[in-house]
Amino acid sequence: MDKILVTGGLGFIGSHTVVELQNEGYEVVIIDDLSNSSEGVLDGITAITGIKPIFEQIDLKEKSLVEDFFKRHNDIKGVIHFAASKAVGESVHKPLLYYENNIGTLVYLLKELSKLPEAAFIFSSSCTVYGQADELPITESAPVKKAESPYGNTKQIGEEIIQDTCKVAENLKAIALRYFNPVGAHPSCKIGELPIGVPQNLVPFITQTGIGLREQLSVFGDDYPTPDGTCIRDYIHVVDLAKAHVVALERLLKHKNKSAYETFNLGTGTGSSVLEVIESFERVSGEKLNYKIVGRREGDVIAAYADTKKANEELGWKTELSLDDAMLSAWKWEQAVRSENE
Ligand SMILES: NC(=O)c1ccc[n+]([C@@H]2O[C@H](COP(=O)([O-])OP(=O)(O)OC[C@H]3O[C@@H](n4cnc5c(N)ncnc54)[C@H](O)[C@@H]3O)[C@@H](O)[C@H]2O)c1
Repeated sequence: MDKILVTGGLGFIGSHTVVELQNEGYEVVIIDDLSNSSEGVLDGITAITGIKPIFEQIDLKEKSLVEDFFKRHNDIKGVIHFAASKAVGESVHKPLLYYENNIGTLVYLLKELSKLPEAAFIFSSSCTVYGQADELPITESAPVKKAESPYGNTKQIGEEIIQDTCKVAENLKAIALRYFNPVGAHPSCKIGELPIGVPQNLVPFITQTGIGLREQLSVFGDDYPTPDGTCIRDYIHVVDLAKAHVVALERLLKHKNKSAYETFNLGTGTGSSVLEVIESFERVSGEKLNYKIVGRREGDVIAAYADTKKANEELGWKTELSLDDAMLSAWKWEQAVRSENE
């Protein structure tokens, strides 16, 4: 089976994707610098699939190490590129760190891929490229809006770099996957989201509050023009998301792509408000969540959810798991992590 490089493969979405790739028989090589993950994730992956993936601890910002890697692995057929820094707030304060880590590494990888006889490239993009879209649900043809943060800008620039490269590198085919809001954990409780420090995302903040690690969840604003006044997002189970990567990769490897560069939205198609997510958590966990409504947070869009038609029809992929499934898996994962740390 083809050898696939997964950068950032010990991170949240990467680790779940490695599991799905191995389940489909691919040979996986992981590059990760452990800046936002730990080597223990390898054990979780191995426990689920029975196969220990090859792991190389490499910082992709080190150009010579990237070159050396491809000299040693010149039989790589595809790359799924997750490695990036992803904290929106931090990116505002440290823009150059984000441009270096998210753009520099992408350029080094594409340079090496251009040297291979044939290469498939999957890029982790984000629905942030749409900003507050004029129409909902959001289709792939919705205009890309000016980025609200350096992080968001790295996704927009990243897409443009790949698109420009695909125009001239005949050996290269690429798909940018625009994720909506990935949540949940593997049902085995062996891998999941492991935020370092205070979680930036809603669901880990909810589960950490539920387990008593955080005192209270702040809900930013209940005066938005939505049915219950809180912001609406499209929460997609990470296992569904991971499976979409395998399908997208296969599309390229089997030459089913319609053009050298394509984009797909990955979401459920359903928007859920912050209060609905809290209700889902309380329903599946049986816990009462301590939360309070506070003022709006700068930069939050009111509502974003995906039009999934293109991904459903062209990739032949659709989500199978519900918000309750995601919240239950996230809660079980939180409990498993805490009991391990006790
Ligand atoms: N989680 C989300 O909500 C979300 C939404 C949209 C897009 N994305 C994108 O998806 C990708 C994966 O996100 P995630 O949530 O799994 O993040 P994550 O932080 O859990 O995983 C990223 C992994 O990349 C590694 N990494 C970072 N910089 C590296 C470098 N220079 N060299 C080698 N490894 C490096 C980190 O150690 C980490 O293991 C990112 O590109 C992110 O921007 C995430």
